[in-house]
Order: sequence, then C-alpha cells, then structure tokens
Amino acid sequence: MRKPVMAGNWKMYKNPSETAAFFSSFNALVAQASHCEIVICPPFVNVPTAVDATKGSNVEIGAQNLYWVKEGAFTGEVSAPMIQATGAQWVIIGHSERRQYFGETDESVYKKTVAALEAGLKPIVCVGELLSQRESGATAEVLKGQFTGGLAPLTPEQFAKVVIAYEPVWAIGTGKTATPEIAADAHIVLRGAVREKFGDAAADAVRILYGGSVKPDNVKSLMAKPDIDGVLVGGASLDPKGFSNIVNFL
Ligand code: PGA
Repeated sequence: MRKPVMAGNWKMYKNPSETAAFFSSFNALVAQASHCEIVICPPFVNVPTAVDATKGSNVEIGAQNLYWVKEGAFTGEVSAPMIQATGAQWVIIGHSERRQYFGETDESVYKKTVAALEAGLKPIVCVGELLSQRESGATAEVLKGQFTGGLAPLTPEQFAKVVIAYEPVWAIGTGKTATPEIAADAHIVLRGAVREKFGDAAADAVRILYGGSVKPDNVKSLMAKPDIDGVLVGGASLDPKGFSNIVNFL
C-alpha cells in the first residue's frame, strides 16, 4: 500500500506572521489524519516559522526549490543542506512555473534531485504537459521525456526516495482540473516508464501525486483512482479549513 502524500505548494504567498496564523488553526484540523503524509511548502523566508509552528504535529515542511551547489557565490540561491538545516524535510523540484519562467530543464531537475537526496531531503519532482502538447497528442511522449531526462539517471536507491507529481500545465491555477480519468491515464504512463527503467517493485512503490486545480470538492474522485497517490495543491492549500478538507478527503 502506498501512503498518500497530501502536499500544499504555497507558491509566492504569505509572510511569516501569516504562516504562523495558518498553522495555529491548521494543525488541529488535521491532527487525526493518519491515512496520509501532510506536507506544506511555503516560500523560503517562512520555512523556519513553519518548521517551528509544526513541531510535534503530523505536518511536515518543505521548500519549493533549491540550487544544487552546497554553498558558494550564487547570489539569491539556497542550497539543499541549508534547507535541511532548518528542519524542513521535503522540497519541490521542477515545478512547471520554474520550468516556464526560470529556465529549469530536465537536466537541472536531475541535478537538484540528486542534491536534495544527498542532503536527506525528500524531493517531489514535477512533470506535466502544456495544453498545446496535449492537444497535439504528445502527452505521453512529453511525460516520458521528462522522466527520462530528470529521473531515469538516478540510481535505484536514489529513485526509491522520490515522489513524482503529475501536474498538467493547463490545469494549474486555471480551475480546469484534469478529470480523474485523464489524470489516471497520465499516472499510468509515468508508472509504466518507472517500471521499464527501475522494475516492478519500484513502480509499485513510487508515489505519484496529481496537481492542478485540486479543490475540496474534486479531491475525492481523484483519490479514488488507484494510480493517484496524493495531491499537490496550490491555491486551495492557502486556507487552513479548505486544505484540511482536502487532507481529510476520506
Ligand atoms: P493549483 O496549483 O492547485 O493552484 O492549480 C497546483 C500547483 O501548481 O502545484
């Protein structure tokens, strides 16, 4: 059985005091949720506040990005060991907004994933097709390409610690969720690519999350698909009550 991961990606929202306020109501709302792992990824400046505010709770904290060098003259960047030292345990890598606006490639995704693993962080690696790619029938090829470039070069031991998030770009922040069937088809493609490269045990164990306009009213139908092992939630993770309803989807 794959334990679901219910993760929130706050993107560039909330400051430290808003972060503390979120957890002062959120923690209690999800305290009984033992069916899943709960992860919140705030902006870097809020990570220490979030770690502090979730001590002793079942909520874990992650960052939204990292740079693969440990330290050095890289103005504006943050390394995996720095994130790990704050007490954060997760990191999102290769989100489509980073690919679109900040030039991330499958190669940088690979380097960042290795850096995260070396520092003991659990990476959530994002893949997903653009609308134009879906419309031209290229979805499976795009997903396999992102897997081949970003994840297939990992060793089996490294890959075993990775969580994948399938996030169709056309569904992010648009209110247009993929139907559970469309999402599940993509998850099956990705799990098939994992099976081909890393074998049956790895394919059966890897958790593949869905992301893109997940809301309290559609989470249940998505989670009903056996290949969907959790969600990565943007907008709907900003409100403690709303995100707790997603976490407690059962
Ligand atoms: P959304 O974002 O839930 O606001 O669509 C999802 C994501 O980008 O991870």
